[in-house]
Amino acid sequence: MKKTVLVSGGAGFIGSHVTVELLQAGYEVVVADNFSNCDLTCFEDVKKITGRADIPLEKIDFCDEAAAKGIFKKYHFDAVIHFAAFKAVGESVAEPLKYYKNNLVSFLNVLEAAKEVGGCNVLFSSSATVYGEPEKVPVTEDTPRQPAMSPYGNTKTMCEDILQDTVKASGGTIKGILLRYFNPIGAHPSALIGELPRGIPNNLVPFITQTAIGKRECLSIFGNDYPTPDGTCLRDYIDIVDLARAHVFAVTRMMEGKMKKDCEIFNVGTGRPVSVMELVNAFQKVNNVKLNYKIAARRPGDVTAIWADPTLANKELGWKAERSVEDTLKSAWAWELHLAGK
Ligand code: UFG
Repeated sequence: MKKTVLVSGGAGFIGSHVTVELLQAGYEVVVADNFSNCDLTCFEDVKKITGRADIPLEKIDFCDEAAAKGIFKKYHFDAVIHFAAFKAVGESVAEPLKYYKNNLVSFLNVLEAAKEVGGCNVLFSSSATVYGEPEKVPVTEDTPRQPAMSPYGNTKTMCEDILQDTVKASGGTIKGILLRYFNPIGAHPSALIGELPRGIPNNLVPFITQTAIGKRECLSIFGNDYPTPDGTCLRDYIDIVDLARAHVFAVTRMMEGKMKKDCEIFNVGTGRPVSVMELVNAFQKVNNVKLNYKIAARRPGDVTAIWADPTLANKELGWKAERSVEDTLKSAWAWELHLAGK
């Protein structure tokens, strides 16, 4: 019988790409989402890409404990991947309670529900944000975490601890994997699904594509006086499909009992630092478009440089990021053109 994975937040940017990869790898997927930050289009397009009109969809909010428990009773899950969370750093500073409540309570309910049915494999979507401004780059999983710079970041750190403690107390019934994502960018090669920020994008690549298409007037490059080769910040931009594939390897490892510890942590990055300026130039070159940009002041809270040492994930998961930054930037542009109906 096929193994079934619950993807909470499965209609969002990362969740939808993960759903596609899981289905294509032969897993059954139940998508659950409260559609607070996305609409049905993406889910419908996942059906088109996979040729699966019958993907079960549960419109639920994981902050509703009874609903979370209900879904674990309705299906048997071999693993759950938890994405359902708010993710805007700036908003989390302005509305910390909204972030703590939503991101913590939804995860607590998933874990309670998993516990109530006798346990489950749990994969949590963490972030490189837990490393803060690292003293040494690239960062390995053993690089010490730093105090979070925003309530959003703090919810990632806290959920990591919640999962570790829950696994420890579960007597082996709950196993956990924490994937620490670096900067996911790009879109599915079909150009049918991609990132759909509401309002003004916070992240670099959506801002670039929206500027290139004329939705935004000008991209601001936040600071060119950082102690980096070209003065702009360094990040590890990882293709969204590569990132999604890492989840397939991780859930397979859990289900096949190949974990070396009951709770494991992996960096999901490329190991390749790219500066903001390099990314902007690469976007213009590979897509043959001119971008209106200016150098602006630094953005408060930005770290200077962070990129992954992905050796552990490469070795233990048997996963490696494959797509070049150029191909990923082409996919991001194809997605923006698709949105514009071009
Ligand atoms: N940048 C610009 N102009 C923009 C947007 C971003 O120059 O309009 C720069 C930023 O200053 C940064 C780089 O592009 O140097 C990447 O910025 P993003 O906002 O795309 O990504 P971050 O690295 O800031 O964000 C990531 C994750 C978040 C996480 C955050 C923690 O996407 O989930 O790190 O700092 F919370």
